Amino acid sequence: MPVRYQRPTGTLDILPEDQPYWTHVRTVARSLAERMGFERIDLPIFEFTPVFARTAAGEGTDMRKEMYTFTDRDGSELTLRPEFTASVVRAYLENGLHQRPQPVKLYSFGPVFRHERPQKGRYRQHTQFNAEIIGTQDPLADLEIMLLAWTLYDELGFRGLSFQLNSTGCPRCKPAYVARLVDYLEARYDRLNDVDRERLARNPLRVLDSKEPGMDEVLAEAPHIVDALCDECADHFATLRGYLDALGKPYTINFRLVRGLDYYTKTVFEVWAEGIGAQAAVCGGGRYDGLAEALGGPPTPGVGFASGLERIILTMKVQGIEPPPLPRPAVFIAHLGAEARLAALRLATALREREIGTWLAFGQRSLKSQLREANKRGVTYTVILGEDEIATGRATVRRMADGEQQQVPLEGLPRWLSTRLHPSESHLQPLPSPL
Ligand code: HAM
Repeated sequence: MPVRYQRPTGTLDILPEDQPYWTHVRTVARSLAERMGFERIDLPIFEFTPVFARTAAGEGTDMRKEMYTFTDRDGSELTLRPEFTASVVRAYLENGLHQRPQPVKLYSFGPVFRHERPQKGRYRQHTQFNAEIIGTQDPLADLEIMLLAWTLYDELGFRGLSFQLNSTGCPRCKPAYVARLVDYLEARYDRLNDVDRERLARNPLRVLDSKEPGMDEVLAEAPHIVDALCDECADHFATLRGYLDALGKPYTINFRLVRGLDYYTKTVFEVWAEGIGAQAAVCGGGRYDGLAEALGGPPTPGVGFASGLERIILTMKVQGIEPPPLPRPAVFIAHLGAEARLAALRLATALREREIGTWLAFGQRSLKSQLREANKRGVTYTVILGEDEIATGRATVRRMADGEQQQVPLEGLPRWLSTRLHPSESHLQPLPSPL
């Protein structure tokens, strides 16, 4: 194969012009999560393969085929995380978080890897905002997770939000339901195409979320799991619905919502938003009361959700939602001559210490060319330092909007600029901690 210097299929370069979206989404998500009592957890990007293979990506799931798995130099089998939840539960068990007051509420941001067929809104590396509540069965925790998702989109200004909701039961009621579903589908086997026949053999619940043509009719009279729940699951579902009703949050019970991961029990949900077409789900989540045990821990209930940042940003763009701009340098320092160059460097340092964003010109170019650059960089003021300015100790300051120039003593210049610049343009806002 010829050498290719291109980004790998299904990955994105996120250029500076897109960063206001990313910073805004992360800032809003982080602030909301912390207001709701979630604490941040950061985890390795790869885990020993069984962490995922025994949980989210069981035998026969699509996820199993999508994992980026490799053998490390010491022979251990590692997998780039295809999701957070199994990692979070692994870390909860490994670090004794079950000894803290329960439940614990944890959130994370980071890249996730799945070898999927790339299309708009579906990538091989995407970035998730993930949140989990571990250590309680209370349906109020399911509600809080759903509210975290909903409120995030609401605070971002999304229109046309709706919950898709279902229950997948538990090991007590699910098998009997799956058996009924298999009977139903086998009776219609001749109407299934190869993809769904394969799903039927491998993981029958997945036939329910088939997007193959003709499946709406095939599934029209299929049994619904919510009619087949045991008492405990039915109670849990009814309580959760009661909360959603009380809050007036619109939801649709979607019996075809089964989700692609293996660990779900009881609640599963997605939020759909207007305008992103086939990728309508901006997030997905649910309860996973058996996951901790699958990882060798004591029975520990949990519920959570994740949202792809790329998909959130796609929705913002489709819906015309603009993020606030990021701070940019407000001052450009142009200089001519060796002495002025040193004075410019000192001035830039002094301005930056005052948190005034400053661009120091590079190269040894004519004043005209430096001013042209200052214009392109969209600064508010340009400070000009040449031989005269050094001799008199007064800088020429040009207001870019109207070209008005005045002489300002170099010594007092940082103060002079800082009183004139609007706080949002002069001061580099403190950014959220590294994300
Ligand atoms: P998921 O539905 O597989 O769930 O992914 C969650 C979200 O990640 C999706 O709704 C979507 O926004 C985004 N996403 C997934 N795959 C891609 C992709 N290939 N390209 C772009 N975005 C994507 C989970 O990952 C579960 N761990 C969620 C969870 C947390 N359940 C309980 N706790």
